[in-house]
Amino acid sequence: MTLAIITPLNSGIREIVLESLKMKFVIYNKLTVAIFCNFQIHNKKDMLIDLRSDTVTKPTKEMHAAMMNAEVGDDVFGEDPSVKKLEEKCASLLGMEAAVFCPSGTMTNQIGIKVLTQPYDEVICYKGSHIYKYEGGGMAGNCLVSARLIEGDRGRLSVKDVEESINNYNDPHQPRTSVVALENTVVREGGSYYTLDQIKEVSEFSRSKGLKMHMDGARIFNALTETKEEAKAYGKYFDTISVCLSKGLGAPVGSVLVCKKEFEHQVRRIRKVFGGGMRQAGYLAAAGVYALDHHIKRLGEDHKRAREMESILKKLGWIEKVKPVDSNIVIFVIDNKFTPEQVLQRLSEYNIKALKFGPQEIRMVTHLDFTDDMLEQTNKIFKELSF
Ligand SMILES: Cc1ncc(COP(=O)(O)O)c(C=O)c1O
Repeated sequence: MTLAIITPLNSGIREIVLESLKMKFVIYNKLTVAIFCNFQIHNKKDMLIDLRSDTVTKPTKEMHAAMMNAEVGDDVFGEDPSVKKLEEKCASLLGMEAAVFCPSGTMTNQIGIKVLTQPYDEVICYKGSHIYKYEGGGMAGNCLVSARLIEGDRGRLSVKDVEESINNYNDPHQPRTSVVALENTVVREGGSYYTLDQIKEVSEFSRSKGLKMHMDGARIFNALTETKEEAKAYGKYFDTISVCLSKGLGAPVGSVLVCKKEFEHQVRRIRKVFGGGMRQAGYLAAAGVYALDHHIKRLGEDHKRAREMESILKKLGWIEKVKPVDSNIVIFVIDNKFTPEQVLQRLSEYNIKALKFGPQEIRMVTHLDFTDDMLEQTNKIFKELSF
């Protein structure tokens, strides 16, 4: 059977693919037709490659079994053993005293900021941070605080950034600066990360000025994979740390707010207010425990694949810039002759999903369900994609 696929390209160019003959005709205008022989069709319909986020993974068979075998109880009454196990594990892992399981990273961030601030306070954070840019204005709405936005070094705040941003408490015009919030890794900056020394410096300085410390550690284990530092060492530098189980770690749902003991009761109270108290949540917590036990050690594979993609993208003429890839997030800026929508449409023809991430930016994130086969396929398609 001969299959012909006619794809409209830009400005009237047509592509006709004859699958059985392994031939492709590209008609540029009435006079110019190019014929490619031995052309391979790459859009294998059975291989969907979803690179929009590391949140798209599905539980592995083993994780699923751990979930189904979980012992559960009513966690709002504090009676779910699997949730307790997860909370104790997270607190101990990060060298902190307490932890509270919540439905999402947005909720753990919002609760963290809420318990560390009073209405009309100000939070110092990176200008592209998730807490500011991607939580629906929750800091303003839930916590009644303003944000002092910092450029940082690829999203990382320094002592100087903090020092220059602290308002004068004695001036009633200015909001009271009360929290420094660090994102680690920084999503908008190719997953850039802090070293423990950088964190120590910022934390010690900020605390010397009476400020509290929050970390959006949605991808903290990606950061630690790169720095090869001990998670346990982090706790002492923060009052609250949000850890996501449903990103690189591959659990289906959930984040944990790790905190100092003195904040635990208030964290549980605010979780209830936000509607985040879950009943037999142990099924989800068991996935989290499984993820912490089995999926941290494989994160380096995601980083390696992301860097391989980075090296391919850097060679493509229609890509203006690839942001440095520090962990599992690949962000590239396309030539302004094209729109992200055009590129995403072309990729979708080959069953590849990516995400528009700015006016000319596209994001791809590697994860547990992105295999070497998929990497090979993605790289091949990018190399052959023409506009
Ligand atoms: C850095 C960061 N923080 C927080 C969140 C929020 O997590 P959730 O989607 O579970 O609300 C995300 C989500 O992708 C994120 O990337």
